[in-house]
Amino acid sequence: MDFTTRFHGQEFANPLMNASGVWCYDDEELDAMGSSASGAVVTKSATTNFREGNPEPRYQSLPLGSINSMGLPNKGLDFYLDYVIRQQESSATNAQKFQFVSIAGTSPEEDILLLKKIQASDYKGFVELNLSCPNVPGKPQMAYDIDATRALLEEIFSFFDQPLGIKLPPFFDLVHFDLMADVLNDFPLAFVNCINSVGNGLIVDVHTERVVIHPKNGFGGIGGPYVLPTALANVRAYAERLKPSIRIIGTGGVESGEEVFLHLLCGADMVQVGTQLQKEGPAVFDRLLKELGQIMEEKGYKSIDEFRGKVRNYAGESNPRPLA
Ligand code: SIN
Repeated sequence: MDFTTRFHGQEFANPLMNASGVWCYDDEELDAMGSSASGAVVTKSATTNFREGNPEPRYQSLPLGSINSMGLPNKGLDFYLDYVIRQQESSATNAQKFQFVSIAGTSPEEDILLLKKIQASDYKGFVELNLSCPNVPGKPQMAYDIDATRALLEEIFSFFDQPLGIKLPPFFDLVHFDLMADVLNDFPLAFVNCINSVGNGLIVDVHTERVVIHPKNGFGGIGGPYVLPTALANVRAYAERLKPSIRIIGTGGVESGEEVFLHLLCGADMVQVGTQLQKEGPAVFDRLLKELGQIMEEKGYKSIDEFRGKVRNYAGESNPRPLA
């Protein structure tokens, strides 16, 4: 089965990646992702300096997914740049996988500083700018402010010339998709990643009558099967609205090969896995590829490009976007 995935001129063995935050915090986790069957790896969203993150417990696995309020614990941008540059310069067979560095300033000013640092470094690859973390107390999810997002992108593209994507929060209103796509289409973005967790859900244990995580009085980002319809809606909505040069990474609700297939069918070029990777560890990628391969075989598809983006409407018509 041919899972080969082309993304802005880069070729990956398959479209699967970790979602930033899961199995990408330190050397040990990144090494394990490097040895896994994933096609690519993204690093934990980095701030300028080391961050401890929110108090524990800050992640809870749930029957239908997860809730987290990690608060961007990370080892600081220097650590992740150094790790990825070392991988890229090595002769290891998996060196090609390390093409995505994620950053998440806690203010627009910090985003600019982080990008200037990347620009001045030897890193060559994609940057995923996380404008959607719901878990830093007192800090809004930047991308919900569409005008502020435009202003930030204007400043970024006045100096930054490496391939940049942004990680978006989920949107729920078709007019909001129109407004956001109008902004995104005005910039030379390489990709969007949709969606981050569905922010500020609340999970309450009926027995203890208590919330299940400590930070923010229990409010946290919801992931996993709970969010699949929202994730697919966001992937499809942007596939219908974005210019073809802005590619799409689909994230949210992947439990099996079936959900990987659905993300690709709705228009995702690559697919990230968060909650299920947390539950199962990096071996999840072997299973997902096997299951995706079985679905493709049953349907008679030999490559992903044969069905990517071709979801049909109720009348049976499809409107695929041009391939990468
Ligand atoms: C976190 O560190 O709080 C999770 C990252 C995110 O939701 O963007």
